[in-house]
Amino acid sequence: MTEASRQKPIGIIGAMTMEVKGLIARLEEDKTREIAGLVFHQGRLDGVDCVVAKCAPGKVNSAVCAQIMILEYSPRLVINLGVAGGVGVGIGDLVVASQCVQHDFDPTPLGDPLGCLSICRGEEEESFIQLHSDKQAAEVLLEEAKTIYGGAHLGVIATGDAFVADPAKSRWLNETFGAKAVEMEGASIAQACYMNRVPFAVLRAISDNANDESPADFPAFAKECADKSAQLLAKTIARL
Ligand code: ADE
Repeated sequence: MTEASRQKPIGIIGAMTMEVKGLIARLEEDKTREIAGLVFHQGRLDGVDCVVAKCAPGKVNSAVCAQIMILEYSPRLVINLGVAGGVGVGIGDLVVASQCVQHDFDPTPLGDPLGCLSICRGEEEESFIQLHSDKQAAEVLLEEAKTIYGGAHLGVIATGDAFVADPAKSRWLNETFGAKAVEMEGASIAQACYMNRVPFAVLRAISDNANDESPADFPAFAKECADKSAQLLAKTIARL
């Protein structure tokens, strides 16, 4: 990393208060600004310049938050953290994204594969299904997870504007995209980051199994799992 890049903050986005509250409480010299109703907290976390925001659930909220964060704070890395539905992984497990996909983006009637995004690059357009997370950030998160919690899964995280509580859909996410977790913000933050050429990482703790038990499991485990991902990030931030 160059010296100029080290001076830029790390951006942290969570969708729910429980996902960011602990980190905001630990920020030293917290300065806040409100833009488009989103509150951005800039300060130092374990000596590292950070900007933390809650975006509220969903792809549009999270993409708007990421875009504002990028334009206003020039982060050198954006990390999305919080909880997710597990797809073949257990409640309480951690998942670090290798890639992110938008499972509900459907251009198939036009002949493109499911999840295939189109992104402008000037007059040209690029198309792809998976957005790759920052390899180094993912490795550091995995290493720290091993030390603190005995490990984390590395794999595809699927994002869509739906809370998944259906075993058939959960199986489909795994068969179609190889997903290990499903949530509602990771891939939209990833897309905003990709468009701005900013590296990103996604770290999620599994609060439910995206099946018909999810409506009961989610409120029972979400807070504990949100704390788990925030604690891992707080312990890792100085290495990112
Ligand atoms: N976030 C946590 N659990 C989820 C689920 N089952 N579906 C979508 N987002 C989630």
